[in-house]
Amino acid sequence: MTSPLNLGEHFIEVAKARRSIRAFTDQPVATELLKIIFETAMQAPSNCNTQPWYVHVATGATLEALREELPRRFMAGDIAVDHPYDGKYDGVFRDRQYASAKALYDALGIPREQKTERQAWFLNNFRFFDAPGVAFFTMPKDFGLREACDLGMFTQTVMLGFSAHGLGSCPQTALGFMTHVIKPALNIPDDQMLLFGLSFGYPDTAAAANLAMTDRASLDEIVSFSS
Ligand SMILES: Cc1cc2nc3c(=O)[nH]c(=O)nc-3n(C[C@H](O)[C@H](O)[C@H](O)COP(=O)(O)O)c2cc1C
Repeated sequence: MTSPLNLGEHFIEVAKARRSIRAFTDQPVATELLKIIFETAMQAPSNCNTQPWYVHVATGATLEALREELPRRFMAGDIAVDHPYDGKYDGVFRDRQYASAKALYDALGIPREQKTERQAWFLNNFRFFDAPGVAFFTMPKDFGLREACDLGMFTQTVMLGFSAHGLGSCPQTALGFMTHVIKPALNIPDDQMLLFGLSFGYPDTAAAANLAMTDRASLDEIVSFSS
């Protein structure tokens, strides 16, 4: 009999098991389980414990209506953001961005020249990759970078919670392009800023999209020690 994992080993396993999941089974996720995952994530730290985060979950008819409307609106160029999308990457950051897209489209078998096919696949973002649920993450509108960091810590803890419970999820800035459709549909107050969504559900392990594996920089590039 193998010895049980200690907490540190469990943590490494959960953190390394998480990756973006972009295809799901039809199996719904129990609301009780969602509550456990979100409540656990609320243990995430925040500046002065301000907890500047909100989550708005859509399933059922609300989700289906969005799934129908969002791709159409995006295709028509009907876009609105609460926070400018100014992610233009150079150097090593550009290389990593390319590598991440390559990993996904290689898994899907869509080469770079097939721009129309790649664009068509990108639209799946607005169908929530057929997930049975999506969570939208917001924070108070007047808040800035500091509080956005808090929201990120909270969201990563949510994603680790999903992984630990055998679920998959995909964080999506793409959903932040559609604030004018999503916020009214979920009655999200206008004084909240929608930054991204997170499609979630039970992973379809056979789907090509879920075979994409991204890599990471070496430890030396990221971490320095001084003593
Ligand atoms: C804030 C944020 C926004 C993201 N937006 C998208 C998105 O709009 N669509 C998408 O397919 N993936 C999106 N991703 C997923 C990243 O591409 C992915 O995390 C990265 O390539 C690393 O891969 P991994 O999550 O599988 O480890 C996003 C990730 C984060 C953290």
